[in-house]
Amino acid sequence: MHEIQEILAHWFESNKRELPWRDHPSPYYVWLSEIILQQTRVSQGLDYFNRFVARWPTLEELARADEKEVLKMWQGLGYYSRARNLHRCARQVMEQHGGAFPDQFEQLKKLPGIGDYTAAAIASIAFEKPHAVVDGNVYRVLSRLFDLETPINTIEGTKLFAEAAKNLLEKNHPGRHNQAVMEFGALFCVPKNPNCPCCPLQAHCLAFSHHTVANRPVKTSKTKVRTRFLNYLVIKVEDNHIILRKREGNDIWKNLYDFPCVESDHTLPIEEVINRPEFKELIPQPHFQICRVSSPFTHKLSHQTLIATFLEIKISVFLPLIQKNNILLVPENELEKYPIPKLIENYQLLIPNS
Ligand code: ADE
Ligand code: SF4
Repeated sequence: MHEIQEILAHWFESNKRELPWRDHPSPYYVWLSEIILQQTRVSQGLDYFNRFVARWPTLEELARADEKEVLKMWQGLGYYSRARNLHRCARQVMEQHGGAFPDQFEQLKKLPGIGDYTAAAIASIAFEKPHAVVDGNVYRVLSRLFDLETPINTIEGTKLFAEAAKNLLEKNHPGRHNQAVMEFGALFCVPKNPNCPCCPLQAHCLAFSHHTVANRPVKTSKTKVRTRFLNYLVIKVEDNHIILRKREGNDIWKNLYDFPCVESDHTLPIEEVINRPEFKELIPQPHFQICRVSSPFTHKLSHQTLIATFLEIKISVFLPLIQKNNILLVPENELEKYPIPKLIENYQLLIPNS
């Protein structure tokens, strides 16, 4: 065994966090935890994991669940296509693999939502197959140990780091090794001010001897972020109903629920919002009352900045000019059943019901 592998294994055995999917690395647990951990850190992911397995203790039960409930359980983690794929994957494993995850990397990769990373994680942790994982923590640890200056978010970087991870893999214990590198990145070789003077790998760390730790990993400057202005219409009907919109199509938050919206690429004054055709189609009658206009909420996604304003509107009957089946009239006390984006949740938390 290479000395670096040995140090990592030893460090891992004494420092690893006790986690349910480590105690019981079943394919279901490993898969579910790895999908969740692509969205959040272990501390928050643990709560989500526990709630998922309390509700759906087995893959079979998750496969039988309603998509809406799966999205609701995922609420707050963002990137909802992961949740839809999680559900589709459970169904596909039931239908095409008799309920047992395949143990081969290539087979795993054919399943919805399973890419190189997740396939390598399941193959190695649940089945002890020699595949190296590369996630954000692994990029950082490798870039420092070997002082690699190729940007990690380039095709060349992806190849180089996959190769480096493969060379470092301890093939007799691939599951432990992969978890050790990730855990070491998460707990010790952290992004800012890692404790290099006390590091068990210091003697092997090229970035340490070259004084480049603070500049690793290298990333090319990120792609342009689009700004969208969302003028949400929070329409209350007869005091106890509210209008929800199910989001469809290929936009963000597919299959989640928010409110009808007038969207623009710049700030719109209220008079313009209520003169827009989208508004008039929904609320044709002149008898509406705008009760409150929120200050703008800024919400950042990876490639979009959303600036949302909420117009609270009261009407006595809901008679839209055009009926759309993604527009729902919902009793307010049933709102909590609907999966909603974090932005809408933030708004609801801040503005108590009037
Ligand atoms: N982050 C994502 N998956 C992980 C794992 N299996 N161990 C430690 N950190 C992780
Ligand atoms: Fe990471 Fe510092 Fe250890 Fe190198 S010496 S592996 S940079 S903690």
